[in-house]
Amino acid sequence: MKQLEGKVAVITGAASGIGRALAVACAAEGMKLVLADVDGDGLSATGELMPRGIAVRTTRCDVSKIKAVERLAELAFGDFGNVHLLFNNAGVAALGPVWSATPEDWQWVLGVNLLGVANGIVSFVPRMMAAGEDGHIVNTASGAGLTAVPGSGVYCASKHAVVALSECLAKDLELAGSELKVNVLCPSLVKTAIADSGRHRPVHLASTNPDSAPYDRRVRAGMEASEVSAGDVARMTLQAIRDDQFYILPHPAVRLRVEERLRKILGDHKPLQTDGHVAPKDEP
Ligand SMILES: NC(=O)c1ccc[n+]([C@@H]2O[C@H](COP(=O)([O-])OP(=O)(O)OC[C@H]3O[C@@H](n4cnc5c(N)ncnc54)[C@H](O)[C@@H]3O)[C@@H](O)[C@H]2O)c1
Repeated sequence: MKQLEGKVAVITGAASGIGRALAVACAAEGMKLVLADVDGDGLSATGELMPRGIAVRTTRCDVSKIKAVERLAELAFGDFGNVHLLFNNAGVAALGPVWSATPEDWQWVLGVNLLGVANGIVSFVPRMMAAGEDGHIVNTASGAGLTAVPGSGVYCASKHAVVALSECLAKDLELAGSELKVNVLCPSLVKTAIADSGRHRPVHLASTNPDSAPYDRRVRAGMEASEVSAGDVARMTLQAIRDDQFYILPHPAVRLRVEERLRKILGDHKPLQTDGHVAPKDEP
């Protein structure tokens, strides 16, 4: 899709980080925006960044709840008549070895990261198809959706599922003869508030992995050192939409890890290594 001006974008997780940067980038293109998040104050702060003259609706929405996402679709189509870019971006992280992950870690992370994307697809895609115009569904996965990151089993499982779901969606749309396209965004570490994503964790899902601390410290340090900003990710994402590039890999390191993983899958039978990600035994 080359022309973005005047088109409509819906962005989940728009109160912070990559979602906020996507909102700023879409507004700079002159798009109309529907911004959704569980964080009302953060949404207001994003709304204040929008240039004058841009049509913006902000609304509270928990993407893990299908009824809430259905209401979001009704609001977006009701207000603007169509949606051209759907960014299924809201996400959370829980860290620690897989064997000490709690049932609540699984329910929360899969609920937001995987069901949030599925709910977006189910609620928006039939309406976007019926509108018969060009459009993109952009799902935020992660580099952790293409490779394995130690201490991130639950998160990786959710993000690998988002990559697979995105690939299937693209094939389903093509088979149905739809003009809608799909992109899957797979960044490595970017400095955002995701290390503090527990700030909006529901109380009934509060019980978390007791062994997350060393992984958490390493992720925070990696984010601080990251040379790719949320703004960079947003710019690359809009360019990928224009170029109709399915996989979006803002960090060159992810490309290298994907190549190594594929080599192993296809016959290099050396043991899997941690790729220097996280080695809790090195921690103080
Ligand atoms: N920051 C990174 O290093 C990184 C790397 C790869 C992928 N990602 C992915 O990028 C996406 C955006 O994360 P971010 O890094 O900007 O983090 P962030 O915490 O800054 O933003 C995430 C937003 O999602 C919202 N959110 C959380 N639960 C929600 C729910 N149930 N319903 C609606 N909104 C909800 C939060 O309130 C927050 O505003 C996520 O899917 C994340 O997994 C981030």
